[in-house]
Amino acid sequence: MSTVPYCDWVEYLETLLKEINYHPRIILDLACGTGNMTLLLAKRGYKMLGIDGSKEMVKVAQKKAEQKKLDVSFSQGDFRTFQLKEPVDLVISLYDSLNYLLTEEDLELTFKQVNKALNPYAYFIFDMNTVWRLTNIEEGNSMFEGDGYYCFWRDEVDKAGPYWKVYLTFFIENPDGSMWRKDEIHVERAYPITTISKLLVKTGFRVEQVYDAFTLNPGNDKSERIYFVAKKVESVVLD
Ligand SMILES: C[S@@+](CC[C@H](N)C(=O)[O-])C[C@H]1O[C@@H](n2cnc3c(N)ncnc32)[C@H](O)[C@@H]1O
Repeated sequence: MSTVPYCDWVEYLETLLKEINYHPRIILDLACGTGNMTLLLAKRGYKMLGIDGSKEMVKVAQKKAEQKKLDVSFSQGDFRTFQLKEPVDLVISLYDSLNYLLTEEDLELTFKQVNKALNPYAYFIFDMNTVWRLTNIEEGNSMFEGDGYYCFWRDEVDKAGPYWKVYLTFFIENPDGSMWRKDEIHVERAYPITTISKLLVKTGFRVEQVYDAFTLNPGNDKSERIYFVAKKVESVVLD
């Protein structure tokens, strides 16, 4: 993910915070991956927490924090069940992470957990790929290579979900020159803006704005990626 313009994403997030005149002190990066956004935000002076479902990614994030001498608490946790010791001022979840939730029930459960993790009147900012984007992905195969690895990539779209399935096969070089193979399948689902908004309201949020990503224009059904800015206005009780 080294080509992802995380620095620009940090700038955009701060633009959104300026729009709502909000100054969070503690931020949770939910589905933080290997901590790219988390660490950039920590460098800007925010107190950061990072949670991700993948133990391996959390390990890499922790190592990067140590190398950069940044005091960030990373832990493994699932969207639907994570718990924090103390509530935070802002939860972010970026780079399609919430598209990994494949049912409305799981999306609702995640929003409830986020509500519980936030201080009163705190914010939840996240991005998602739209239905339009997922249904317009071109199916097919491609290949790319990086330093010491090759990757075969196959895109498949199931318009009914809609689901986007990515089949990845990596061939990674060992120090002795031999190669080993690693397979991964990623599945994303997109939801209409109206469904996401309805679930946010149901779980104690007010939707302040939906943006066409990286602009201040309203998001719509032809946006590729949308950013939600939601404010916690009620506390929900988890069943
Ligand atoms: C596309 S990556 C984005 C990572 C990070 N936000 C970034 O911008 O680099 C999606 C992340 O979602 C995490 N993820 C997927 N399903 C999850 C779940 N059920 N609970 C927590 N994290 C999950 C994956 O482990 C992965 O790190």
